[in-house]
Amino acid sequence: MKKVTGVKVLGIGKYVPEMIADNEDFAKIVDTSDEWITQRTGIKTRHITNGEPTYWIGARAAEKALEDAGLKAEDIDLIICCTVTPDYYTPSTACLIQRELGAIGCMAMDINCACTGFDYGLDMARRYLVAEDDVNRVLLVSAEELSKFTDYTDRSSCILFGDGAAAFVLERKPDTLWSSFLGADGNGAKFLVSRAMKSENVFRKNKEEFDMGMPETKLHYFTQDGKEVYKFATKALPMAVSKACEKAGITPEELDAIVPHQANVRIIETAAKNLGVSMDKMVVYIDRYGNTSSASIPIAFCDAVAEGRIKRGDKICFVGFGGGLTYAGIIFEY
Ligand code: ACO
Repeated sequence: MKKVTGVKVLGIGKYVPEMIADNEDFAKIVDTSDEWITQRTGIKTRHITNGEPTYWIGARAAEKALEDAGLKAEDIDLIICCTVTPDYYTPSTACLIQRELGAIGCMAMDINCACTGFDYGLDMARRYLVAEDDVNRVLLVSAEELSKFTDYTDRSSCILFGDGAAAFVLERKPDTLWSSFLGADGNGAKFLVSRAMKSENVFRKNKEEFDMGMPETKLHYFTQDGKEVYKFATKALPMAVSKACEKAGITPEELDAIVPHQANVRIIETAAKNLGVSMDKMVVYIDRYGNTSSASIPIAFCDAVAEGRIKRGDKICFVGFGGGLTYAGIIFEY
């Protein structure tokens, strides 16, 4: 097992909105059933916002992580917020979280790596911590309000998504277990799409639509090729864990827990089989929250810690996959 300068997790926190939608609620709005959703996805309930914006749920998770770390907002040097569902193009969600916490003055930025965001964010946090001695504490937040991007007339996708946030407070830790393997395949960009503003201005003369090689979408709502995403996810998950293990000089068997992105329990079961590990190693709470994109890994981690499934000193792998297409595996000691 290789030891390098990695990260120490000082505190963790999660926040999910109070409102819950179960499968029966979905059966009232689209042609579906509890049986279909449970069997095909493993999802039972999701938390949905009732008007609270993305930054607000992110700030609630961040407050809990700071409290868990025994730190104050002014102790933070950098806020990284992972989100695909911001409230504004500008300001960033990170700046709004900073305002909410009163952490004025520190660096703040958003990253968009879809469901792989928390892995990319952890990697970025560690690189800042290792490279710069003026960055000593990083607040990493994933905040997602997928409900505002969900097309509730599309039964094949609307049943998947939920809202939620989670945060970690991190500092550098010398001589510890750490490895990261990050990647992307833009050829699969078309498989998972949420449209931003179109190229429109008063001077535009060319009325032809520019061919971006992307599918038609309904406004900003999520459009996905579920089968392609499924195929990609079942390959990317075991590949990212294996590569991260290789870099860390350990085997998947030696990990105490693997926390995968929670998209579909069948993806996780197939991936576990392909990886040759038992489902006992996989941390899965998709039944409670559905798919909360970049927040799904840290939310699951928070629940596993709260329930005593993950303890200090455990060797953990966070494995993400999602829009982009992006994929990543991070290995660290909690
Ligand atoms: N209720 C009832 N029937 C449904 C529903 C529903 N909610 N949704 C689809 N169906 C029907 C389909 O219309 C189809 O009917 P047909 O055979 O008469 O045409 C049938 O069920 C089977 O459809 P499939 O698409 O083959 O169903 P599948 O088992 O592949 O499950 C699903 C679909 C859940 C979308 C799956 O492909 C999946 O999870 N893909 C991954 C997508 C994903 O995770 N996206 C999340 C965002 S990205 C990320 O987090 C990585």
